[in-house]
Amino acid sequence: MEEVINYINSNFNNYLTELKEYLRIKSVSALESYKDEVAKCAEFAAQKLKDAGMKRVEIFKTDGNPIVYGEWLEAQGKPTVLIYGHYDVQPVDPIELWKSDPFEAEIRDGKIYARGANDNKGQHFVHIKSVEAFYKVTGKLPVNVKFILEGEEEVGSVSITKFIKEHKDLLKCDAVLISDTSMYAEDVPTISYGLRGLCYLEVQVTGPSKDLHSGSFGGAVANPINELAKIIAKLHDKNGKITIPGFYKNVMKLTAQEKENLKKLRFSDKELAKQVGVKELSGEKGYSTLERLWSRPTLDCNGIVGGFIEDGAKTIIPSKASAKISMRLVPNQNPKEIQREFIKYVKSLAPKSITVDFKIHHYGYPVVIDLNTKAIKAASNALSKAFGKKTVYTREGGSIPIVVDFVKELKSPVVLMGLGLDTDDIHSPNEHFHIKNFERGILSSAYFFGEFGG
Ligand code: BES
Ligand code: MN
Repeated sequence: MEEVINYINSNFNNYLTELKEYLRIKSVSALESYKDEVAKCAEFAAQKLKDAGMKRVEIFKTDGNPIVYGEWLEAQGKPTVLIYGHYDVQPVDPIELWKSDPFEAEIRDGKIYARGANDNKGQHFVHIKSVEAFYKVTGKLPVNVKFILEGEEEVGSVSITKFIKEHKDLLKCDAVLISDTSMYAEDVPTISYGLRGLCYLEVQVTGPSKDLHSGSFGGAVANPINELAKIIAKLHDKNGKITIPGFYKNVMKLTAQEKENLKKLRFSDKELAKQVGVKELSGEKGYSTLERLWSRPTLDCNGIVGGFIEDGAKTIIPSKASAKISMRLVPNQNPKEIQREFIKYVKSLAPKSITVDFKIHHYGYPVVIDLNTKAIKAASNALSKAFGKKTVYTREGGSIPIVVDFVKELKSPVVLMGLGLDTDDIHSPNEHFHIKNFERGILSSAYFFGEFGG
């Protein structure tokens, strides 16, 4: 083990250089025009798996983006770890707010800045490098290893959901290891055991068949933007509760133990408000901020368009308006059921003077993970060794839709070993990853394999 750790430490600069190469590939899954880059990125990842000693590496074509698979299964009698990650990244807009090129990684202040530096190239690269270190130093690995890297996580993980159902034998394992979440705070090693789900739709409101003069027609014809705004306003009550009938009926309450754990974690509303640039936080009444973030569902408008949006003024009753609305869900809410109820409710709120259509984007199931597994214990010890501190347990506000399939389809214990920070600006301009977390991540990964392999 010691030799492997020394090897990692002395090769760390090369790992950074390689990560920069990985980050140069513009694997934006949301935009059709980046398809070639996405394909190139899958090739790059496959090559890295080969370099890390994987005996079988395959790029599986799908209806969407390719899935990269690699395995090394020569540790007879040892457990098998499946490592999941996603090589696709979010779009970079608004590009003018980036201090350096999002696809030309730059190191400033001990952080590496680029789209995907944290979410998720930097985070899963950690495991490729730790596996490689074992392979280079000892010629073998302490556990059997399978990698699965997808290119659609940021757009709903459609292809891999099907892939898992069709390749249960290929993916059979004793634990799934994922680094795609956040640490509770700087220098605090963290395992997350919950993720929120998601239900994402677009509400399209149509009024008159074309834009109309607001003088000639205003007062006689419903304005789709006004009506959409009224509908959105009715989706929450004055206490911040979502008004969709039955919305909360399956919401799982925190256990007494979880509440205890929450109390132990230090948290400051003031600091969070300062971090995000607001005067005070806001949300559902009767719950603490951590409770709201980790265990309560939400409904948010992500974007809204309609009417005249150029510079200057134009006097119209617009023909159309639309809003992208997402709901973060918690166990045991069912995204499909929530979707149905949302549509029914919004239709009921709409006056006859407009028509409402819905476009469904994607949905994902929420999950809570059993902490009582060998894999979690091994990961907790490994993180503590690498960070020199006790590991804490958190739930996440974000979503990784595929995790539920690992639990339900593969029936595998999952470990969410997050290495990012909520201040790393994922999905935002100037996304970054702390180099010390990249480094401690590789070490944690190595310790985990050592520990889990016994
Ligand atoms: N890495 C994130 C999930 C995440 C975000 C974990 C924040 C912890 C904190 C992941 O890549 C992501 O962005 N997921 C999407 C899923 C969606 C597009 C289906 C999300 O949560 O919005
Ligand atoms: Mn993401």
